[in-house]
Amino acid sequence: MGKVVVAARLPGRIGEILAGHTVVGPPDGAAELPRARLVEELRDADGLLALLSLRIDDALLDGAPRLRVVANYAVGYDNVDLAATKRRGVVVTNTPGVLTDATADLTLALMLAAARRLPEGAAMIRDGRWHGWEPEQLPAMDLAGAQLGIVGLGRIGQAVARRARGFGLEIVYAQPRPAPPAVAEALGARQVGLDELVAGSDIVTLHCPLSPATRHLMNAARLAAMKPRAVLVNTARGPIVDEAALVVTLERGHLLGVGLDVFEDEPRVHPGLVACSRAVLMPHLGSSTVGARTAMAETAARSIADVLAGRTPAHVVGA
Ligand code: DGY
Repeated sequence: MGKVVVAARLPGRIGEILAGHTVVGPPDGAAELPRARLVEELRDADGLLALLSLRIDDALLDGAPRLRVVANYAVGYDNVDLAATKRRGVVVTNTPGVLTDATADLTLALMLAAARRLPEGAAMIRDGRWHGWEPEQLPAMDLAGAQLGIVGLGRIGQAVARRARGFGLEIVYAQPRPAPPAVAEALGARQVGLDELVAGSDIVTLHCPLSPATRHLMNAARLAAMKPRAVLVNTARGPIVDEAALVVTLERGHLLGVGLDVFEDEPRVHPGLVACSRAVLMPHLGSSTVGARTAMAETAARSIADVLAGRTPAHVVGA
């Protein structure tokens, strides 16, 4: 039996899953374990259930000599230095699958909100600028027949494609390797190069992991290459988009709108995005449904229980 540090208050049956272990979580009333306390508790911890905001690197691991497993409470694991964990034999796990639908749903919400100009319409009413129905008010995008470009046709990209088909969107995707033919065929998704996708799509949605290869994938040149009335959606990781370049792009009047759930330097949001009426902004809530967040917590706790019991957990990354 070991000691498990749980970085935040989480839903689900974590206590039950980790029964027999000493579980240290946030103090009563706190949402998260304060950083100093977390570092202190890690000194003799065997397992860590970590949030994506925590950088797992040499500095942290040096202070956690007994650590055997880090269960990241997220599908993305760009916050983990996998070379550092590997050197120490620390197993790293993530939570794929259980948040796919929730994240795809929010992607569609952002897509629709930006393409149908929801924030601008809502602001007209709130600001008292709506004086009645007019034929040319806030003309939006026709979704049926428009092209949706999905960057990364993994689990979430595929779930987005399934939903998008219901709106009559034509689907193209870009990623280094082709999707399995049966998957692409079922989704009616055609693979194209990234630059072709960017230049030809009415909506571009990002679903690739953050890595050195995808950091600022949507740079100034690619943003400028998008159609003037296109929409960009990002529910993956903020640094995939060069946020400063995006603000300049929007300020120039390029793009119909953007839907962003993630930001380069969370929780900071570029003031230019906050000021932009065509930007639909959400505070990293892609997986934030009761079911998804509960399943993520239980998946992560199960991974820790497995490793500490000498079993191989279901979702190991970077092995
Ligand atoms: C993830 O899982 O990577 C999301 O960003 C948070 O749910």
